[in-house]
Amino acid sequence: MPVITEIEDLRRIYHRRVPRMFYDYCETGSWTQQTFRENTSDFADIRLRQRVAVDMEGRSTATTMVGEDVAMPVALAPVGMTGMQCADGEIKAARAAEKFGVPYTLSTMSICSIEDVAEHTTKPFWFQLYVMRDEEYVANIIQRAKDAKCSALVLTLDLQILGQRHRDLKNGLSAPPKLTIPTMMNLATKWGWGLEMLGTKRRQFGNIVGHAKGVTDASSLMSWTHENFDPRLNWDRVKALKEQWGGKLILKGILDEEDARRALDVGADAIVVSNHGGRQLDGALSAIRALPGIVRAVGDQVEVHFDSGIRSGQDVLKALALGARATYIGRAYIYGLGAMGEAGVTRALEVIHKELDTTMALCGRKTIEGLSRDILLVPDDFEGKWT
Ligand SMILES: Cc1cc2nc3c(=O)[nH]c(=O)nc-3n(C[C@H](O)[C@H](O)[C@H](O)COP(=O)(O)O)c2cc1C
Repeated sequence: MPVITEIEDLRRIYHRRVPRMFYDYCETGSWTQQTFRENTSDFADIRLRQRVAVDMEGRSTATTMVGEDVAMPVALAPVGMTGMQCADGEIKAARAAEKFGVPYTLSTMSICSIEDVAEHTTKPFWFQLYVMRDEEYVANIIQRAKDAKCSALVLTLDLQILGQRHRDLKNGLSAPPKLTIPTMMNLATKWGWGLEMLGTKRRQFGNIVGHAKGVTDASSLMSWTHENFDPRLNWDRVKALKEQWGGKLILKGILDEEDARRALDVGADAIVVSNHGGRQLDGALSAIRALPGIVRAVGDQVEVHFDSGIRSGQDVLKALALGARATYIGRAYIYGLGAMGEAGVTRALEVIHKELDTTMALCGRKTIEGLSRDILLVPDDFEGKWT
């Protein structure tokens, strides 16, 4: 077994194990992928201030997210089709998160259903909702999340329509995969993945099949999915959904200060500054550049969470120091999952935890609450010269 010391190690194994169609799905952004690339490269523009001779004994990364205790402020982001990256992937990721003490967010577009994940875990997880045209379906899935004792609803606002991702269209992405000749040739080289997939019954969208009208097989499922993201979603509907849910509400996909203020009006418990990992509006600001303005606008009134571009504990630290209360990782844990299943997600969390803890110490801070902007060196024009 290779020694894994950084997320990139997991990524390399992930590419060897998982079929191209699914790693392409994970690895791409939309259109030219500018925003996708800048999500990671903009982190590198921020430098850290080294401090010395500060007592570092008794450090802790523990804190809270929407009132829940967490071992570190790094939740697992909702990722569609996780169960195609690795057999029973959602259950494995949720179990790793539970053992580590961080929140797991189950996507609407998951392979394992809400009930299935609830049955195989012992602590509440979070449920991410995409608003669909079919209102009965939406009411029903909110009720299912309540029945499963999900402790927060993460309502995603930045996918009313799907951003175009070239490689998914070219690969004919579907779950289960369509067996075209190129797909079969690629699958033949991924026998470890294939054997595990043959050993599970969970190979379709578990939250949809059997719950949405007219969805009976893979092809009706794919068309229902693409036609059903609701382009009419607006703030009134968000407010109504908050009432329907009645519990903790996290609004995900905020990249603009005005939208952040609207989220306050709705009474969200937290917002996630996110551009969906560069998968939606290509040409939008990287999330880390958008973060400081949003923190200034609403940071004293609502928990500001952050995702898009995090690949290390140093990135987590930078987002926290710029004012995020907490962060999420998407691809960083999917690499671990595809590489080594549950153990790989645990490894990804361990890597990020170690990097966060060590970097925090070398910056002279002992607690998450003690982090602030003055541990960073940020270029004057970091927030951009765009108006
Ligand atoms: C393969 C993949 C699938 C995703 N599916 C969803 C989803 O179903 N719902 C959602 O709200 N966000 C989804 N996202 C976005 C993530 O929740 C998160 O915002 C993003 O991954 C953060 O960027 P990062 O991957 O650079 O950490 C997905 C991201 C990826 C990479």
